[in-house]
Amino acid sequence: MKQDLYSFFLVTAPGLEELALEEWRVKSQFLRELYPQLMSPEQDACARTVIGGVELFLKEAEGWTLNHYLRLPTRILQRLTTFQCNNYERLEAKVRHLEWHQYLRQGEIEVHPSYHKSYINRKKGIEECVLKGIDHCQKHQALRKAHLNEPQSLFVRFFNNECTISLDTSGHLLHRRGYKTLTVEAPLRETLASALYFMCYLELGEVPQQIFDPMAGSGTLVFEPLHFWQVWRRRSYAYQNFPCAPKVLVTEPTQSLPLSTTRPAVLAGDLDPKAVEALRGNFAALVKKEKFAGEFREGDWNEVWNETELGAGSILVINPPYNKRLATDMASLPRQLNRMIEKFHPTIFATVWPGRQLPDLKGTWVRQISTTNGGVPVTLGVLRPTVGDHSISRTNLAPEFPEHN
Ligand SMILES: C[S@@+](CC[C@H](N)C(=O)[O-])C[C@H]1O[C@@H](n2cnc3c(N)ncnc32)[C@H](O)[C@@H]1O
Repeated sequence: MKQDLYSFFLVTAPGLEELALEEWRVKSQFLRELYPQLMSPEQDACARTVIGGVELFLKEAEGWTLNHYLRLPTRILQRLTTFQCNNYERLEAKVRHLEWHQYLRQGEIEVHPSYHKSYINRKKGIEECVLKGIDHCQKHQALRKAHLNEPQSLFVRFFNNECTISLDTSGHLLHRRGYKTLTVEAPLRETLASALYFMCYLELGEVPQQIFDPMAGSGTLVFEPLHFWQVWRRRSYAYQNFPCAPKVLVTEPTQSLPLSTTRPAVLAGDLDPKAVEALRGNFAALVKKEKFAGEFREGDWNEVWNETELGAGSILVINPPYNKRLATDMASLPRQLNRMIEKFHPTIFATVWPGRQLPDLKGTWVRQISTTNGGVPVTLGVLRPTVGDHSISRTNLAPEFPEHN
């Protein structure tokens, strides 16, 4: 018999929606083999993208578990209810009828209100109504004592006078993986680094053998791929705090996806000694006793990797120093990158590039997605370098998710 399905929403950075849907599809296929009881069939999810994320219908525990496996969403919301609402009284009345004791505990409750094209148009008013409604429920059924140190957040959204109340199942934002203690200037959001890695994986059709970032900063682009296919248990999640979450689910899931057994070797370097210190420290914190090969060098990429030539199934990744945050001659960067591609011969070159236009490089851009990194517009691009001695041609920009011959 089909179990009850609940409405979930994977929140993503703008532009990453389709890729996040694909990540869910690929990883859920593996999860169905690992946890057949937990998962529902793909067609039942009725998954679709909307601006800012992916809507899905899943079993409740299935939706919560995704926090441990997905690397592109910034949080995972569970939609508790959607109803027509033109006034504050109705909002409070609706809130009173929800089973808050199942999901909330004592302690602070953050309400995140938003509205668009609706009669209800005061954030403070929404927040007050929701908190008053929850307070009323507590008089009949007290909330349990606080447990984990995860924020309890509700998202209350009005659109065309329709109100949706969602519960945050993630807690701290998901890009906070919980291992990286050392950062340098202009770090990249982990969710974007994972998105770029996933684009490379889709393009290669397999887990890469080597990942090389010669301008690595604190190493986000090379470290995200190392745990992309692993179950993530280095931090807690808000759902583990829900009184209704069964204990067994809080200790599960523990299994990594089969692709995690292929271990790419990491090569990374930076001009800045502090960045190299961060690289080494973060690598040690991430891999602990696991066997991942990592090599880190300090200095100008053009001098310290002279004998390095990448093999088949390799990715060269670059998040160049943006003009705004780190002084760089942007005009000379494409020349530098072409020199890198010629020198190291990667199977794939991938970049997080500032702005909306990828540079002219020696090869063909086969995948690209425009998004933002901390509010700054960036484009994620995957390039198939030209093999042999062809001259640099005008970049052939492909649409997102092109069909391949
Ligand atoms: C935008 S940051 C990379 C940030 C990184 N993705 C992260 O998440 O921390 C660019 C890095 O390039 C380094 N860099 C600039 N020119 C370089 C060069 N010629 N050789 C090596 N590193 C260089 C800078 O020191 C800086 O750390």
